[in-house]
Amino acid sequence: MPTVKHIGVLTGGGDAPGLNAVIRAVVKTATNAGVKVTGLEDSFDGLIYPEKSRVLLPKDVTGILRLGGTILGTVNRGDPFAEPITTPEGTFNYGKRVMEMFQKMGLDALVCIGGDGTLAISYEFYKKGIPLVGVPKTIDNDIYGTTSCFGFDTAVAFATDAIDRLHTTAEAHKRIIVVEVMGRYAGWIALHGGVAGGADVILIPEIPYDLNKVAECIQKRDARGARFSIVVVAEGARPRDGSVSIIEAAHDGHAERLGGAAMTCASALEKLTGKETRYVVLGHLQRGGAPTAFDRVLATRFGGKAVELLLAGQFGKMVANHPPDIVPVPLGEVVGKQKLVPLNYDLLLTARALGVSFGD
Ligand code: F6P
Repeated sequence: MPTVKHIGVLTGGGDAPGLNAVIRAVVKTATNAGVKVTGLEDSFDGLIYPEKSRVLLPKDVTGILRLGGTILGTVNRGDPFAEPITTPEGTFNYGKRVMEMFQKMGLDALVCIGGDGTLAISYEFYKKGIPLVGVPKTIDNDIYGTTSCFGFDTAVAFATDAIDRLHTTAEAHKRIIVVEVMGRYAGWIALHGGVAGGADVILIPEIPYDLNKVAECIQKRDARGARFSIVVVAEGARPRDGSVSIIEAAHDGHAERLGGAAMTCASALEKLTGKETRYVVLGHLQRGGAPTAFDRVLATRFGGKAVELLLAGQFGKMVANHPPDIVPVPLGEVVGKQKLVPLNYDLLLTARALGVSFGD
């Protein structure tokens, strides 16, 4: 087992509130244990370009607990193994360059904070011989093996606040308002935000919808005297007889970009119900800003546990929330899988029992 005296920390993929809280926890716990920390900028680019890394001391992470974004920067490069990498020192095979630079920089291990893409890349480097621990990050809450990820609670809190605000204007104008939330192919943000915000209809990727059913639900509400309706639609939701709404197709290893679901639903619902309808896309607002207290605590626990695992020689693991504990899960059991909303999830069943329509 290699003695860990110097670790690198990186953040990869889309940002999520709480990344800085993890970095802070890693730097403080490692330094207090006598371990040097190097911050790698822009994900694995910190191991490609010599100028993209810096030593991090506790003073460098003071005050970042409450900040969104990441002080290390991040990239979403798609499949980094696909192309050779060109630096001022020459052109290199990506994998080889990372392995060589890891040695050259005198690193003993890495903490890789990221979503499914970054965790999959990290797992490849672990198999090539880099001792590392993964920290799961995503507002989408779809990483397999952990009950929650930091960033999700913040995104849900923002969506809830937005839905609260939309309620008052929808009611004043007796309109339908369709709210599009993120989440990729999982409906966690839509379901949790929708229930917390008291939405009347929640459309999630796990349940293909029929807009006629949604229109029926809205008309029933009107008949009861509630002449406005709030529809939450996940960006990855799709009609029963159609497909997911895409604004940019997958290319060069980059995932497809989802979007347009709210606009499509709003115009169809206006036609079906004859009611004035508006739509709002919450987009990247869900990813920005300060993390909630829950996300700061979860991120701090993840960072502390990641260092503890490295010091114990438990490499190739992802830290996971398994209430009441934070536990190690083998990366090999996590990568390539997705955690979707189970159709028998109690919150989904309760929402149905409350009368929320899922358009099915
Ligand atoms: O995975 C997080 C996420 O915010 C998704 O909810 C969304 O589809 C995607 O990232 C957007 O990514 P980008 O940063 O490429 O706009």
